[in-house]
Amino acid sequence: MIAEIAQRSWTRRGRPKRFEVCELGAGNGQLCLDALVWVETRARRAPGWARFARALTYRIVERSPGLIVQQRAQLGALAGRVVWTRAECAQRAPRGAPFAHHGFVFGNEVLDCFAPERVVAGPGGRPQATFVEATLGGAHLSRAALARAMADPRRRDRVRFREALRPVTEVRGLAPFLRRHYPEFFERGRTRPPYFACPQLEPFMRNTRRLYREADALWIDYGDTRCFHLTTPERGRFVAGPPRSNRRLYDAPGRDDLTVLVDFSVAETAAEQAGWRPVFYGQQAALARLSGVRLDARAQALIVRYRALGWMLSVVGAGPEAKWRQGALSWRREGSTGERLRDTVRRDVEEFLGRRPTPFRILLLRSA
Ligand SMILES: C[S@@+](CC[C@H](N)C(=O)[O-])C[C@H]1O[C@@H](n2cnc3c(N)ncnc32)[C@H](O)[C@@H]1O
Repeated sequence: MIAEIAQRSWTRRGRPKRFEVCELGAGNGQLCLDALVWVETRARRAPGWARFARALTYRIVERSPGLIVQQRAQLGALAGRVVWTRAECAQRAPRGAPFAHHGFVFGNEVLDCFAPERVVAGPGGRPQATFVEATLGGAHLSRAALARAMADPRRRDRVRFREALRPVTEVRGLAPFLRRHYPEFFERGRTRPPYFACPQLEPFMRNTRRLYREADALWIDYGDTRCFHLTTPERGRFVAGPPRSNRRLYDAPGRDDLTVLVDFSVAETAAEQAGWRPVFYGQQAALARLSGVRLDARAQALIVRYRALGWMLSVVGAGPEAKWRQGALSWRREGSTGERLRDTVRRDVEEFLGRRPTPFRILLLRSA
């Protein structure tokens, strides 16, 4: 779908001779591999796609050097088709940008990666930020001591965390960010659920706008808009641990994956201020429409085969997700009769097509 949407973006721009697809935060490289294989396959049969393949440079912008190594390994022979730029886009635009005149920028589950600030409505319209104090055996731990304790399997489970509220002015840039997006936190006399603020969304949108002179950008993530973030209980707005494990924030920090649902209202406003024009925001289901891909029975059977192969490779310790998947392997889930892969895929596809509720959303932007 990503390859198809990128190819449509190239066509809309008049089929330029040079065109970059820029994947931001490519994780284990699987999506890049799939997209490139798709382009190569289509290019063998359709002259239009062959022209697209000739124009295409696939660039990965990635902040993690360890993941770049993994991506290269995952791509194998196709690594030669990819250019890597190591950059932390929430801090600055990558060196060398703009990389080309025309581009298509996208990222899956990147907007949820920023470290959020948990904001609590304070008395008299003075919002407060949440700091965390760590102790071991009752003694306060410095940052360095905390890092050592968390790296020590005998001590890490004895570390305790306690939240402490301080004025938002103690976190650089947080108060002006809140005034811009959530001024209601400065109103007196209202209690509201805590809010997870991600000020980094603003520089991120500005920096990604600098990647190409003219571009489309597609952000895929779980999240929702302002009303959801203001009214949903806190527990429904962050995810800790492996999917559906229902862990709490302080169960195993450092080992658990901790993310918050993206605030797409902030993302959209930040994008507009950075020179993007929002073209579409909505359910992930729109990806199928935007790409013209039909997830019919044949496509579903293919996904089942592909996933089964992925699991089998993981069992023997091969494949990019072997470690992650092995942690989730069991013959039968406790208290359940087990779920057949075919049913899981069917459910996922239904979620994907918007026939079941899902928190996944997409935001499509075009350079203004
Ligand atoms: C949760 S992973 C998602 C990986 C992949 N897109 C996927 O769907 O499996 C987030 C990826 O974005 C990268 N990343 C996160 N924030 C970034 C930033 N500010 N600049 C560059 N890369 C970033 C991470 O290193 C990682 O590769």
